[in-house]
Amino acid sequence: MIELVFATNNQHKLEEIITAVGTKFKILSLDDIGCREDIAETAETLEGNASIKSHYIFDNYGKNCFGDDTGLEVEALDGRPGVYSARYGGPGHDHEKNMDRVLAELNGTDNRKARFRTVISLIIDGKEYQFEGCVSGEIMTERHGDKGFGYDPIFRPNGYHTSFAEMDLEEKNKISHRGKAMAKLLEFLQKGDF
Ligand code: IMP
Repeated sequence: MIELVFATNNQHKLEEIITAVGTKFKILSLDDIGCREDIAETAETLEGNASIKSHYIFDNYGKNCFGDDTGLEVEALDGRPGVYSARYGGPGHDHEKNMDRVLAELNGTDNRKARFRTVISLIIDGKEYQFEGCVSGEIMTERHGDKGFGYDPIFRPNGYHTSFAEMDLEEKNKISHRGKAMAKLLEFLQKGDF
């Protein structure tokens, strides 16, 4: 079994990934390796932030690991909130405030196109590899559903009538930004070409 640290303490993400990887890999959280520090996300790109997280774990704990960063990119807002998605509504990572700000900024706008983009940075034996996953859709005019997290209640993926927050985790994983980036990561790991 391949052991990999996922540089996150976000329970939703851990669950999503553990569901997706099955039994071939053992995913450890930051908690599992006794890492209690808050890893500062100071880069201005998703690629940069994902890289900061994986390097932090590899450099300090010497373990193979991956980190991810995700942003919601809204076309009419020139790609915002993007790398600032977690704190768009102010400090404190408040999902409700983040959604309120996006909804307010899109008020009266016809173009509601948006996409989630995830970048994963994997470090195996000191070498870094990156994987990207995207899902396109639109920002709904109000919240729908109570599953998932973050902007899920206001994001409807293309080809669906429901928001991400109305979908079961397995269904969301199949089409989501993180699910796609994870699939690329898993394919890479299974090939063992590193
Ligand atoms: P993170 O850097 O991957 O934690 O993502 C930054 C922010 O993007 C989170 O705080 C959420 O607001 C949002 N986000 C990330 N992934 C998702 C998702 O799957 N659904 C909804 N929002 C998400």
